[in-house]
Order: sequence, then structure tokens, then C-alpha cells
Amino acid sequence: MKKVHNFNAGPCILPKEAVEASIEALKDFAGTGMSVIEVSHRSKEWEAVMDECRALWRELLNIPEEYDVLFLGGGASTQFGVIPMNLMETKSAYLETGVWAKKALKEAKGLGNAVSVASSADKTFSYIPKGYEIPTDADYFHITTNNTIYGTEIHTDIDSPVTLVADMSSDIMSRPVDVSKYGIIYGGAQKNVGPAGVTFVIIRKDILGKVSRYIPSMIDYRTHIEGGSMFNTPPVFPIYVMTQTLKWVKKMGGLKAIYKMNQEKAALLYNEIDRNSMFVGTAAKEDRSLMNVCFVMNDKFKEKEADFMAFAKERNMVGIKGHRSVGGFRASTYNSMPKESIQALVNCMQEFEKLNA
Ligand SMILES: Cc1ncc(COP(=O)(O)O)c(C=O)c1O
Repeated sequence: MKKVHNFNAGPCILPKEAVEASIEALKDFAGTGMSVIEVSHRSKEWEAVMDECRALWRELLNIPEEYDVLFLGGGASTQFGVIPMNLMETKSAYLETGVWAKKALKEAKGLGNAVSVASSADKTFSYIPKGYEIPTDADYFHITTNNTIYGTEIHTDIDSPVTLVADMSSDIMSRPVDVSKYGIIYGGAQKNVGPAGVTFVIIRKDILGKVSRYIPSMIDYRTHIEGGSMFNTPPVFPIYVMTQTLKWVKKMGGLKAIYKMNQEKAALLYNEIDRNSMFVGTAAKEDRSLMNVCFVMNDKFKEKEADFMAFAKERNMVGIKGHRSVGGFRASTYNSMPKESIQALVNCMQEFEKLNA
């Protein structure tokens, strides 16, 4: 197989071990003589996978007893509407830090009084707004902890006077999190925790049952809590791969160790961006994401952008083109991205500078 440096933003690189274990299970799952995609989701072998997956989530994130972990379909985008349906009675509040946050806000606005408490749209979402006030009459406050497209991240678990809801699609399992500060943590799996096709929702059960609207069964979190994420057929294969991915996270030493590795990897690349005379980072330094490193060619070398892209491609760099809405470059450095790949990108930037600056 061709060796590439996979900087894709999601779907993206996954631990090799997780991919290999999943291939084996596609051939013969748990000695059943059937593929993991052929067995009944009501079989004891499958139930064991669900239990293991839930237990890994609980252990790795130290999830308190009063929370449940759900594995659902529909992606994070479905949750944008599901959250206000379940939680918003009179008002909700949102921090507008990018396109995904705006999409979440749009769905809440369609269902009632949803307000934006602060926005960084004035500077193309290149920073995280500070000093805003969270309205105490809101039913919940929604944040996007990592802004995949712009490379900004909220690095701490903030305090909120109302239920805190976080889209952690692109930084879940990248650092230890104080789950007890949140009412809901949710996201699509397809960055740090698995392939596309499964959505995780960590939810404190006592925040439910407080709205007066009818909630269709599949939209009502209580349905999935009662059904153990098996009210309907769960996305079995993505859950299988997620379980293998979390086993790898555990094997690597858990979230403290993973966080340290992520800090080192991101620093390697940011240091080069700051040193190199041809490139400049786009996110405010204090808000720089550890997961998505966004940069552009500085004004003097703007016309060299396409050349660098071709130069990097020749050296097997994949997925470094910035999102179509912002341009430039984005290198995603998720948990399973090896340091060697980041070093290879740094070398590539240094070589390019020697030849062009
Ligand atoms: C922060 C964030 N939220 C939400 C989404 C949308 O996720 P999905 O495609 O699972 O609906 C993405 C996708 O990249 C994302 O990065």
C-alpha cells in the first residue's frame, strides 16, 4: 500500500490497529463464522461490543454515573435540531465560532428563541470570543469546542450558569474533559473516535423531560437511553471501529498521554509556521487548535500557494488544502496522526522555503 501522510479533516486517519482489527471482524466476527455486518444486533456477541464501547467511553472520559452515552445515526448535524427539540422551552444561547456553530444556531432559531451571545464572524472566525455574558434565562448554552474549518479551539471546560451543551466533533478524546461541567457533549465520530456513520451523545439524564412539545420517538433522547442505543438498528460497523479506536486510545495511556502527544505534535507544526518566512498562521495564537492547524502563504508569496500544494503532493502529503470557505492550508493532526508525518510536513515547508524565499 502507498505510504501517505494523511492530514484529512474528517473522515481522517484512524489508528492502524483499529483498521486492521475491523478488517478481521469483517471476515469473522468473534468466532461466529459471520461478518460483523452479518450478525444480529440482538446477539450476545454484539451486545458485548456495545457494552465494551460504552465502558471505554466511561473509563477514558471518566463519565459520572448520572450520564448516559448514546450511539446514534444522523451525524452531528442531526443533533443541531435534536438538542433544541429536547431542551429548549423558552430560550437558548449560542456562541458563534464558525460555520458549524452557525448551522446549530439556525436549527434552534427555527424552533424558538435562540440567540447568539457573541460571534467571531467579523474576523472570519479566526478567534474565540471572550468576555461575553451567558443569559441566565436560557435553557442551555451551546458551544463548539473545536472549529474544524478555522483551526480555533476552546481549550478549557468553561463555567456556565445554565446547562452547557458542546459540539466536540473534532476534539473529543484529544484531552481530558471535566464531563460534569456539561449537560450534553456530542459529535460525529469521524475524526478522533471512528469512521463516519455514528454520532456520540454524552448526556446528563436529569436535563430531559422539561419541555412541553411533543418529541418524536427517534428524536427523544429518552427513547435511546431506555433502549440502550438499540431502539432501532444501530450503525453496527462504525460502532465496531469506534470500539477498536478507543481500545487504542486506552493502550496509548489514555487521555492525559494523548493530550501530551497532541500538544507536542501541534507545537512542532506551529513553531515551523511561525519560523518560516513564507507561511503565516490564521488563528489567534491563544486559540490555536491542537487538531486543525490552519495557515496561509504570507502576502509576499501569495502566488506560490498552488506551487506549494503541488510540492507537498509530490511528497505524499494528503488533505492539506484549506476548507473551500477559507482557502490556504489546513493540516489536521488528530490523535492517530504520527509525529513522523508532521515532521515530514515541516521538512517539506523548510525545503520549499530554501528553494523559493
Ligand atoms: C465541529 C463540527 N461540528 C459538526 C460537524 C458536522 O458533522 P456531521 O457531518 O457528522 O453532521 C462537523 C463536521 O466536520 C464539525 O467539524
